[in-house]
Amino acid sequence: MSLSFLAGALLCRSLLTSALLFPKDLSPINTADLPGTLSYPWFRGLMTDNDTAKLGLDFQRMLKLNHTLFIAARDHVYAIDLRQAKDALSPDRHLTWKTQDMKNCAMRGKLQDECYNYIKVLVPKNDDTLIACGTNSFNPVCRTYKINTLEQEGEELNGQARCPFDAKQTNVALFADGNLYSATVADFQASDAVLYRSLGEQSPVLRTVKYDSKWLREPHFLHAVEFGHYVYFFLREISMEYTTLGRVIFSRVARVCKNDMGGSPRVLEKYWTSFLKARLNCSMPGDSFFYFDVLQAITNVVQVKNRPAVIGAFSTQANSITGSGVCAFYMDDIEKVFNGKFKEQKTTESAWTPIPEDKVPKPRPGSCAGFGKAAAYKASSEFPDEMLTFIKSYPLLDEAVPSVTGKPWFTRANSRYKLTQLAADTAAGPYSNHTVLFLGSEDGKVLKVLAKADETSAVETLLLEEISVYNPAKCSVKNEDRRVLGLELDKARHALFVAFSSCVVRVPLSRCETYGSCKKNCLASRDPYCVWLKSGMCVAYSTDLSTGFEQDIEQLKLLGTCQDVVTATGNHNSAGDSAYVS
Ligand SMILES: *[C@@H]1O[C@H](CO)[C@@H](O)[C@H](O)[C@H]1NC(C)=O
Ligand SMILES: *[C@@H]1O[C@H](CO)[C@@H](O)[C@H](O)[C@H]1NC(C)=O
Ligand SMILES: *[C@@H]1O[C@H](CO)[C@@H](O)[C@H](O)[C@H]1NC(C)=O
Repeated sequence: MSLSFLAGALLCRSLLTSALLFPKDLSPINTADLPGTLSYPWFRGLMTDNDTAKLGLDFQRMLKLNHTLFIAARDHVYAIDLRQAKDALSPDRHLTWKTQDMKNCAMRGKLQDECYNYIKVLVPKNDDTLIACGTNSFNPVCRTYKINTLEQEGEELNGQARCPFDAKQTNVALFADGNLYSATVADFQASDAVLYRSLGEQSPVLRTVKYDSKWLREPHFLHAVEFGHYVYFFLREISMEYTTLGRVIFSRVARVCKNDMGGSPRVLEKYWTSFLKARLNCSMPGDSFFYFDVLQAITNVVQVKNRPAVIGAFSTQANSITGSGVCAFYMDDIEKVFNGKFKEQKTTESAWTPIPEDKVPKPRPGSCAGFGKAAAYKASSEFPDEMLTFIKSYPLLDEAVPSVTGKPWFTRANSRYKLTQLAADTAAGPYSNHTVLFLGSEDGKVLKVLAKADETSAVETLLLEEISVYNPAKCSVKNEDRRVLGLELDKARHALFVAFSSCVVRVPLSRCETYGSCKKNCLASRDPYCVWLKSGMCVAYSTDLSTGFEQDIEQLKLLGTCQDVVTATGNHNSAGDSAYVS
């Protein structure tokens, strides 16, 4: 009784504090509800496949290559021609890859449902081929396929350290310079977390140090990008440096040099010599900072105010009130933190503190051989032992990477549902100069947000649309899983692909026609994708409308009621036109 009272009081207090800290949730300017979105094309796997009909699609990931959208799922990869996906989503080719090992898998104490081949890796290797890896009944395997025909090429490869054993584990994979970079867990027990490089002809196989929680501690890998001399990994993990409150999740950016050849025969041979990691800070400033510590999804490198950056969706810790925030990070701010102080814990009892510069060996640990501070070294295997020993023990940097503008661009607190995915169009609108974010949530919605950067350092956001995409009638098979698991933009055809466990839905980027012949509603949508035509229609902008359209993203015009405007502006416009003509 007293305990629950205390818990109640604490909850009340934390809600109160957060209410003070959080900006009010934005209301959507427009909403698109189910009857309206019901007609969008959708795909839920081949119903001629008995397992798919019974268990559903079990979406794993999407990959867009030119005009084709690949969907990796349980036992299948589907290829959809985007040029034909406007009215119906049906694959024009697919591959089926079932496991041969269902019986043995069930004997090893796994549930029948887990013993399929969940295809968790799907990455282009070059212009002609892609690599797919599947869990294959807890015995991961990779194959090479021709992109055009989905025909298998060459031999199967062991999938260990490239693909998890269990479909529930997360993983990322990326080809860079002919090497496959993968991050996952490399064993049946999911205890050996690894960031791995393999398949290169010029470079040795490298990995992170095994079972060393200073390198990785129960990580959840979310994304990998190639940028400059490096491959960056984005993940969340149990923090090492913050232990007073038990298990706390922090978000991280980690990086390795693409030219890393591993250490010397004495130190770090066959391991990364360049692995560094830092915390990403997505928080509300204020009397007590409020942190969105749990990274959920992050973009590729995009341009924010003409600087390379990534944009991520974060949520709060599981034991806190549910909240989500969207933060952007400049790549050069990440670089700055990686060039800053390292962090150490002197004894197992003491707090983590920055390592003084004079204790850091030269060349600077984490450098790439042949560049910058390590320019004098031809290969990482020539680095001095002292430097290699240092990086083995201290891969964590002291400072956290600050977010662009120092606070989230968008927050949501009054919802029980977290944001789970995001996609960014940083060149939206007729002049390609607006940034629109599409945020997927746990309750099957997509929020469309306009992020406006002004001359000062602020970024103002508008919630343009709240779109209910999940539709139980179409997407519910085994159970009702409304979480948005994937978002893929197809700007060329004005579409967003929204993936759930059991279906993929094609959603148009805008719904301009619903504002009808009312100019006020059209302009008041503030939607960079919608324009008002002189002929009295609200339509989606396309490049063939070179001139003669109107938009009012900044809301500079005062527009009275709908009725007034149609007649008044109509009259005014035609009067004006004829005046010029005559
Ligand atoms: C699929 O199910 C039907 C009906 O139960 C059955 O006749 C058919 O043989 C099954 N197909 C396969 C490939 O198992
Ligand atoms: C995609 O298009 C680009 C440019 O047109 C081309 O160079 C590339 O080979 C294409 N990739 C695939 C996988 O077809
Ligand atoms: C986008 O470009 C147009 C045309 O150059 C300009 O009028 C508008 O102010 C720009 N908007 C932003 C947000 O930069």
